[in-house]
Amino acid sequence: MVQVWLVDLERSAALLEAVETATPRLSDDDQVRIDALNDADLKRQRRLTTIALRVLISAYSGGPEFDRLPFERLGNGKPVLPGAKLQFSITHAGERALVALGSVVPLGVDVEVLRAVNMPNDRQQAIVRAARTLGPFPQSEYTFEASDHRYRVLRAWVRLEALAKAHGCGIARVLAACGVLARSASVVRDAPAFPANLDGGLSNGNPIIKDLVLPPGADGQPWFAALATFGSLDELGSQDEGDGATADPSAGVPEVRHLPTTQAGMAELLAGI
Ligand SMILES: CC(C)(COP(=O)(O)OP(=O)(O)OC[C@H]1O[C@@H](n2cnc3c(N)ncnc32)[C@H](O)[C@@H]1OP(=O)(O)O)[C@@H](O)C(=O)NCCC(=O)NCCS
Repeated sequence: MVQVWLVDLERSAALLEAVETATPRLSDDDQVRIDALNDADLKRQRRLTTIALRVLISAYSGGPEFDRLPFERLGNGKPVLPGAKLQFSITHAGERALVALGSVVPLGVDVEVLRAVNMPNDRQQAIVRAARTLGPFPQSEYTFEASDHRYRVLRAWVRLEALAKAHGCGIARVLAACGVLARSASVVRDAPAFPANLDGGLSNGNPIIKDLVLPPGADGQPWFAALATFGSLDELGSQDEGDGATADPSAGVPEVRHLPTTQAGMAELLAGI
């Protein structure tokens, strides 16, 4: 079963540091990557997010087996735990991070807060078109915010980034596959339509995208998030029998849980309660 966790870095900071002091889980490589960041805020956020990821991996796998084990980075940077039957994906956005964990199928997760979208109109439209091929957008965003193009573009964007992460190929390749970035004429002519032209990942099955529901931030701003996988909806805990790309995106959406912010809650999480 796939789990999705929302980490509020501000609220969890002291607890995460205390948990890491009590039981170090960061690998030497994690620390090197954190130290390599120049910006102090970014460094703090990356450290807390990585501790949270390590805690969640420990809780999901039921023990310390993967504590301090370096992640392997695949060709385009996708982190994996070598030899583990555990899939995960992480996304950072300021004071929030999302972590998806599961087994069996590859996972990708992405998050964005409502913000200005600085890209040409035709590119925005191409992104929205491509993301719609992965399933209809949530009705609520049309009902309430139909006039605000940022909702559609950001909703679309997190879907494509989540897909890029589940696949592991990176966003540039997904944008090329869906025609947002230029491809050569012969590639356009010969390739199947998006997303079938994303070779490699499709050997695991059809892409499945779920729009995740996040609470607004403390300032009331909406957040957009999506989870992607290739394979079976069963793994997401869904009863839906759809065929992936055309399945109802509101079916089988994993609940977004909040990382505990109390010692008792964290102890229960790590004890598997
Ligand atoms: C993966 C990617 C989509 C994430 O972009 P982002 O919005 O800047 O960052 P997010 O916070 O959402 O995600 C970052 C996390 O994604 C993960 N990640 C990085 N590369 C990944 C890949 N190829 N596949 C899956 N996950 C990846 C990492 O866990 C990373 O966090 P970490 O560095 O703390 O371990 C983007 O960096 C990317 O496409 N990278 C691949 C290289 C590439 O194609 N670059 C061209 C950019 S135009």
